[in-house]
This record gives sequence, C-alpha cells and structure tokens, in this order.
Amino acid sequence: MRFIDKDIEDYCIEKSNQPSHYCSELETYTRENIPMSQMLVGKMEASFLGFLIKSLGVKKVLEIGTFTGYSALAMAEALPEDGSVTTLDINPETTAVAQKFWSKSRSANKINLHLGPALESLKQFSPGFDLVFIDADKENYYHYLIKCLELLGHKGVIVIDNVLWSGSVLKAPQTESTAGIQKLNDYVASRSDLYSTLLPIRDGMLLIKKDLK
Ligand SMILES: C[S@@+](CC[C@H](N)C(=O)[O-])C[C@H]1O[C@@H](n2cnc3c(N)ncnc32)[C@H](O)[C@@H]1O
Repeated sequence: MRFIDKDIEDYCIEKSNQPSHYCSELETYTRENIPMSQMLVGKMEASFLGFLIKSLGVKKVLEIGTFTGYSALAMAEALPEDGSVTTLDINPETTAVAQKFWSKSRSANKINLHLGPALESLKQFSPGFDLVFIDADKENYYHYLIKCLELLGHKGVIVIDNVLWSGSVLKAPQTESTAGIQKLNDYVASRSDLYSTLLPIRDGMLLIKKDLK
C-alpha cells in the first residue's frame, strides 16, 4: 500500500537531496535483477536518513538488514570521512551484490559488513552508536529494539522501517511479521522513558530517542 500519492512522493523526491548516482545504479540493478527488490528503502527514505545523519552529527551507524546495500551506501555517503556504517545481514548472495556496488564508491571504506543472524552478530558490539536503522526480519523487531537500546549512545536515535506493514497493523495479525511489528509498536508506545514518533513515510518509519534529558 502507498500512503502518499505517487505524484506527491515524486515531487518530494525531486525537491530533496538524494543519494549519489552509485546508489541509483545499485537501485536500478536491484530492481531489474534481484527478487523482492521492493525491500530496498528507495530515494525518499534514503534522503531522510541522510538528513538525520547530517543534522544530528552522526558518526557511527548500525544497520540491521543490508540486502543489496542501498541504504548502507546512502548512509555512508552522508557521513563524514571518519564515520562508519556497521551493517548486518544473513544473506551471502544479496550482500555480494552490495559489496560489488559499494566498491565503486569512495564511501566504501566506511562500510563494515557482518554476515550471519543479526541477533548473534549484535553480541560483539559495544555501546556508542549514534544512529541505528532496523530493517530486517519483522518477527525479531522487538528483540532487535531491546538490544539496540543497549547499544545506542546517549544522544542517539533508532529508526525502524516498515512499522505500518502496508496497513496490516490496523487489523488482527494474520502473519508473524504483522504480530512482530504490532508487538514492537505497542511496546515502544508503552515506554514513557522513550520519545517516539511514527511517520507515514513509505511503509512507516518509527523514530525513537531514549535519553530525554
Ligand atoms: C528489507 S531488507 C533490507 C533492505 C536494505 N535496508 C535496503 O534498503 O537496501 C531485509 C534484509 O534483512 C535480512 N535478514 C532477514 N533475516 C535476518 C536475520 N535473522 N539476520 C540478519 N539479516 C536478516 C534479509 O536477508 C534482507 O536482506
């Protein structure tokens, strides 16, 4: 489901800063060659993530869900030279595509890929991430959030994608993915120590801040 009229969305994208032509090439290749290419965040979300990175002075990004590497590359491009994107995925085939396209960009050296189940990979990191972007298997969203709240620096922000799941969150859950997203959204809303904003950008983006002082 599209929450924003296509012409309006296209106009917004046209008037926004967008990721580089390397990202556009990667987007085109993914849409033409890779199954489930709609999983890629696209230009509007990439622009929004770039805005957050630049306005919050982000240096360390953690991403759960690399796919073919579009959002990781877009975020790396928005970071300063000493910034880094640590990105986690379980799929060796799609991440091989990611690595091939990253290597064309001068931001490639900012990206570190960790292959394996994300809940396992997450155990090796220390707190201090400025931005966490969660965009992987929805069944684990709650568990990712709990771990990422530990890993987030004091001034950091967590962004979680697909939290409207094409509108299915409004109904009784028919799938584990919908149930996982509803559990996450309800949990975040119940925590008075978190400040959260759910925006209907694309398939829904939930922004969370933990340090309210
Ligand atoms: C929506 S896609 C990520 C899209 C990416 N952020 C982008 O914009 O290009 C979700 C990714 O999560 C990965 N994934 C699914 N289950 C996972 C798990 N348990 N651990 C790590 N990655 C997982 C999938 O392999 C898939 O590439």
